[in-house]
Amino acid sequence: MSLTSPHNLHLPVMLDESLEALNVTAGGLFIDATFGLGGHSEGILEAAPQNRVIGFDRDAEAIALAYQRLNRFGERFEAIHTDYRQIKKVLLEKGIGAVQGIIADLGVSSYQFDTPERGFSFRFTEDSPLDMRMDRTEPDTAADFVNSLSEAELADLIFAYGEERAARRIAHRIVQARAKAPLTTTKQLADVVVAAIHQKGHWKIHPATKTFQALRIAVNHELEELPQFVADAIDLLEVGGRLVVITFHSLEDRLIKQALKFQSGHCVCPPQLPDCRCGTARRVELLTSKPAQPRESELLANPRARSAKLRVCQKLQPVTRTC
Ligand SMILES: C[S@@+](CC[C@H](N)C(=O)[O-])C[C@H]1O[C@@H](n2cnc3c(N)ncnc32)[C@H](O)[C@@H]1O
Repeated sequence: MSLTSPHNLHLPVMLDESLEALNVTAGGLFIDATFGLGGHSEGILEAAPQNRVIGFDRDAEAIALAYQRLNRFGERFEAIHTDYRQIKKVLLEKGIGAVQGIIADLGVSSYQFDTPERGFSFRFTEDSPLDMRMDRTEPDTAADFVNSLSEAELADLIFAYGEERAARRIAHRIVQARAKAPLTTTKQLADVVVAAIHQKGHWKIHPATKTFQALRIAVNHELEELPQFVADAIDLLEVGGRLVVITFHSLEDRLIKQALKFQSGHCVCPPQLPDCRCGTARRVELLTSKPAQPRESELLANPRARSAKLRVCQKLQPVTRTC
């Protein structure tokens, strides 16, 4: 395996737990909604010779690398360059109405994060463009957001998606800085945030972490339609099939948790409502009452897995009404 092998660019998170949760030894067609570098797909394909995988990813470069990795499986796998929120439409167009299992390993890959030209990270000192698009065919980069939103819009975005308490101060500094010249590199933005926070001493986490997370979520619309994706994925599962979702931050985990709760027949109405109006119906059984988290041994090998949370549900037989 060479240093530039796709195997080295991203370590699949909670791989053993995911494969077990997907019940991959049963054999069948699996969907990898976030194909990335193909780590989870490879595990599924290796688990049983009759397994097939269709992968989705918005990142054409990651797909090209994953193809190198999975070439040896021939026609047992296929990757589609599109958003996983199109999963139902794309599969139905292919004549596929039911699959054995679906995995969504949400967020950004190490490959994206570690490639300076992609502009996801503040840790590169060279001039990394302030980009952050997972799909480079999309029009708006992080620089477009940073240089065009109003101060109030920037503050709201950084607060909502970064849960950053200093959001107003950061937005103010960004607007001051861009009045001199547009911010075009990750380093320029990181420096502005550091100056805005002016935290002394050693940082536990870099002061720009939350601002970068917020922009990444906004650029890639990461939180939009997640509950609809969960509903569509469950529609596509055969009875007994499993949906596995791995999240990496509290905002997306909360949405997935709520969506799975709703799909498992629990009311998600606000407590102040006198009766249930959310229209929940029991379509799945939750197999994780609390999310599973990576083992110590995985965290030692891959510290980036530390915030991972894995949730699983299993599709139930639909209830047939007799009257
Ligand atoms: C954490 S990585 C997945 C890594 C993969 N499981 C592996 O082991 O190589 C997440 C991937 O999901 C992709 N992604 C994120 N949001 C997406 C979306 N809405 N539709 C399709 N792909 C998406 C990203 O481009 C990234 O490649």
